[in-house]
Amino acid sequence: MYRIGEAEVTRIRKLIQSGRIFRYGQGGECDQFEKDWATHVGSRYARMARNGTSAIYTSLVGLGVGPGDQVIVPAYTYMATALAVVAAGAIPVIADVDESLTLSPADVERRITAHTKAIIPVHMVGLPCDMARLMRIARKRKLLVVEDACQAVGGGFRGKKLGAIGHAGAYSFNFFKNITCGEGGAFVTNRKAVYDRGSVAVDCCSFYWNPDQDREDLQFAGHNFRASEFEGAILNAQLTRLEPMLKKMRRQKQRLTAAGVKAGLQSIVNHSIEDECGTHAGFLFATEKQARAFRARLAQAKVSSFLPMDTGRHVYTRWEPIMREQGAHHAALDPFKIPANRKAKIRYSPEMCASSLDILSRAVLVPTHPDHKADVVRHMLATIREAA
Ligand SMILES: Cc1ncc(COP(=O)(O)O)c(C=O)c1O
Repeated sequence: MYRIGEAEVTRIRKLIQSGRIFRYGQGGECDQFEKDWATHVGSRYARMARNGTSAIYTSLVGLGVGPGDQVIVPAYTYMATALAVVAAGAIPVIADVDESLTLSPADVERRITAHTKAIIPVHMVGLPCDMARLMRIARKRKLLVVEDACQAVGGGFRGKKLGAIGHAGAYSFNFFKNITCGEGGAFVTNRKAVYDRGSVAVDCCSFYWNPDQDREDLQFAGHNFRASEFEGAILNAQLTRLEPMLKKMRRQKQRLTAAGVKAGLQSIVNHSIEDECGTHAGFLFATEKQARAFRARLAQAKVSSFLPMDTGRHVYTRWEPIMREQGAHHAALDPFKIPANRKAKIRYSPEMCASSLDILSRAVLVPTHPDHKADVVRHMLATIREAA
């Protein structure tokens, strides 16, 4: 969360005074946000969900991913990406990240099998994946693409908004994201059929509220990940803040990256530095020891930074439910145990993406902030130069 204040309070006050606090019937805040978010990212449809996890899960349901399918996910992402695959009944296949800290297209190609149905590129810490190469692979191998843009809300890749490049895209609006309503999420897609199926997965009675979805084929048992008007109201206020904030952070990232490179550091690979979120500048070192020494020097000068390796359940070795193959609350529902997945199942081991572990422990990420004053940015620049 970067900013929240009076605009949100005003919107919530009006909502309470109106008494229309349920999204269907007389509500309007969620409808408004879905319309504006779809327009903002350049997608035909947007559906709010409960959070980012349910947005990924409902995208997969919308696309018809399920038992018997493998879905490729990167070794560096919050474990919810892989858990959403399991929730849909499919098997997550973990692939390496490269020096962009995002999904390696080369490793994706290596891990495709006859069972692969979809790829989930994750735009981690605001960094866009190489969507041009990944979409080329997906087209060639007839795979579906669900972008996990949970950490890259509002970012872009070569002029297109993240989340709106693949067949579906998912966003999180939880407290830690670029815009937030505390907890929240949404998926987008250009395909009406995906939107309709995904909407039923978001709301088990979706067809009741949306009469155009009142079709037998859509009346499968869904869950309930319905969004609230309070979330819609806050997000409508947050959306007006998004682009000006990202513009500032992109500029800061470009300056921090340029300063580091000029001082002899190696930048991580940035696939679209003009369009991305700009939330983190990243540097790669020859060894973990050097990376930790650089971070310690930054910390001494009160400049915050972190190694992606240290971020707990964002590294596959820490995804316990996956590594231990505990895919559901009941064995008969567990994708790791059901007969339909016998051929799609893989073995998980801490060594399976050793190259990712190496890269993630040699990288240092330096967060930007839209409220950093000029003197703070100057201090960060000087500290990076000195530590380099
Ligand atoms: C990359 C990524 N995917 C998915 C999620 C899940 O989002 P949520 O916490 O809103 O369910 C997160 C949230 O932290 C995330 O960072």
